[in-house]
Amino acid sequence: MHLETSRLRLREMTTADLPPLRAILQDDEAMSAYEGAFDEAMTLSWLDGMQRRYREDGFGLWAVDLRSTGAMIGQCGLTTQRIMDAEVLEVGYLFNRAHWHRGYAVEAARAAQRYAFAELGADRLWAQVRDTNIASMNVAIRLGMTVRGRFTKHYRGVDMPHLAFAVDRGDAEPH
Ligand SMILES: CC(C)(COP(=O)(O)OP(=O)(O)OC[C@H]1O[C@@H](n2cnc3c(N)ncnc32)[C@H](O)[C@@H]1OP(=O)(O)O)[C@@H](O)C(=O)NCCC(=O)NCCS
Repeated sequence: MHLETSRLRLREMTTADLPPLRAILQDDEAMSAYEGAFDEAMTLSWLDGMQRRYREDGFGLWAVDLRSTGAMIGQCGLTTQRIMDAEVLEVGYLFNRAHWHRGYAVEAARAAQRYAFAELGADRLWAQVRDTNIASMNVAIRLGMTVRGRFTKHYRGVDMPHLAFAVDRGDAEPH
């Protein structure tokens, strides 16, 4: 799997990506929607889980590299998730804080969205967003998503109200 946008390249993560992955997953601010920084064991298990998804599903959250430098600055991609009692396809995005506010999340997520509709033949793409995560909501809105429902996730011992955003294939803007 290999996707390119004007500034970014999306590809599968490997263990060589652990240093930039730690810079995201072990950062309290980047992980505030996930109730704070992961420790090393959670980081290794996250990468392991993504690699299992690549093998079993053919997709997962991919590494996002800056084409200009080759540096990995984030993760973005597709995962299957259970949202409001249904198995659905979700777009996810997490970026290194040093690279926020430059449009990278929307650029990468649009590439993942195109892949979901064009290559996987999905009819609908979802994003589950914690109700405190305005940045993530704005990315979902940029993808043409609207709010389809609300639900509570129980994660790391905390009840987290979430909004379920989604966009249907025909309604996604052409990019
Ligand atoms: C959510 C996240 C990926 C956004 O990344 P980003 O590269 O800064 O996003 P973009 O630059 O593409 O911005 C997308 C839109 O969101 C807006 N936005 C970005 N950060 C914002 C913030 N903190 N508050 C409000 N709006 C914000 C931008 O203004 C932009 O809207 P616009 O097109 O109307 O200007 C980033 O904040 C992040 O990694 N957060 C931590 C991980 C996370 O919570 N992921 C989502 C889990 S559901």
